[in-house]
Amino acid sequence: MTEPLLFTPLSIRDVTLRNRVVVPPMHQYSAVKGFPTDWHTVNAGKFAAGGAGLVIVESTKVERRGCGTIGDLGIWDDAFVVPLKRITDFIKQQNAVPGIQLGHSGRKARASRPWEGGGPLRHTPEIEAEVTDWDAWTPVAPSAIAHSDKWPVPRALERGEVKDLVQAWGEAARRAHAAGFEVLELHGAHGYLVHEFLSELSNQRTDEYGGSEPNRMRFLIEVTEAVRARWPETKPLFVRLSVEDHAGWGPESSARLAKILKARGVDVIDCSSGGITDQAPILGNEIKYSYQVPLSDHVRKHADIMTMAVGLIIHGDQAEEILQNGKADLIAVGREILNNPNWAMDAALKLGDGSVFRNVPPQFGYWLGVRARRGFGTKPSTWQIGLEETRKVL
Ligand SMILES: Cc1cc2nc3c(=O)[nH]c(=O)nc-3n(C[C@H](O)[C@H](O)[C@H](O)COP(=O)(O)O)c2cc1C
Repeated sequence: MTEPLLFTPLSIRDVTLRNRVVVPPMHQYSAVKGFPTDWHTVNAGKFAAGGAGLVIVESTKVERRGCGTIGDLGIWDDAFVVPLKRITDFIKQQNAVPGIQLGHSGRKARASRPWEGGGPLRHTPEIEAEVTDWDAWTPVAPSAIAHSDKWPVPRALERGEVKDLVQAWGEAARRAHAAGFEVLELHGAHGYLVHEFLSELSNQRTDEYGGSEPNRMRFLIEVTEAVRARWPETKPLFVRLSVEDHAGWGPESSARLAKILKARGVDVIDCSSGGITDQAPILGNEIKYSYQVPLSDHVRKHADIMTMAVGLIIHGDQAEEILQNGKADLIAVGREILNNPNWAMDAALKLGDGSVFRNVPPQFGYWLGVRARRGFGTKPSTWQIGLEETRKVL
């Protein structure tokens, strides 16, 4: 049997992913003053042990002001390197590749956790027990324009601060390398700081960082250059974009930007959408399977760069079809891998991959292999045929 493309290794620069299954960055709200806890190792570790090729740790903030909520991971100081290394060591022990997303929440900083409302954090006496630096956490943005009526007006960054921030991203990349990460992703999507520079809605600066499209792209381009200067040539660099933000920035601009980024050493565009307004939420327009795949397809074809598809990719055959049709090079499985951390192993079984349990540790892979060979007429509890069969019963 020919191996499904999903389980064909992919080499980018000097890093080889054992398969094309990626765990996208997913915030865990579990850090303490920016430091990772056991939760982060266990969470990332279970996906690595479950067979994914690349596990990308959540948006980790390049400066304190950039934290979205209480519990964000930080990388703004060298003190974060050793605790983060514990995560990368464990992921590598499972033969998966550890990645990390660098981020800054911009005008959407200082928010409450999603299950507590998700809007701006209220300054209450109870909060003061947890947040001892409320003023230092004041949201900043390219311009003093609020995300929406319910959000505070951010402070516009001074030109010198923008330059400092570019360097902060570079320093964060240096620390990510020291912590043992092998793939770095820059968060340029979802209405956070980088995206706020790209969008005309949130960027009305009159200096070289605002106005024309090339000026609005300048911050991300300078960040990319600062990062590439400190992130080894041998290691891949990804950028996540809201390829379509439903508020003026779309696939054509994204493809133009992707070409520029490729020339600056970016290897993969991770194709997401939305987030710059409440009307275009990050996870809001998800009315169908693979809803963001056309964005990946567009960037891949028009910018001649590798892409990662993400968004309601749930079934193995669905993922395989996207790769076979040349619409992406990597498949990110987000919430479904929260549902089934062994998704990669499960998908391999359903796609008839010859060496299903190769990617999982023998501690459980051996026993599942024996059960699969002997059969006993049983199927795993997750068993169903795939997307087509699911559609018949929807
Ligand atoms: C709990 C949770 C946390 C997330 N945190 C991040 C994040 O830190 N950075 C990011 O770019 N996207 C984040 N996302 C978005 C996911 O990476 C992904 O793009 C999205 O969930 C759509 O894919 P899915 O339909 O497979 O879940 C998060 C999503 C979830 C569910």
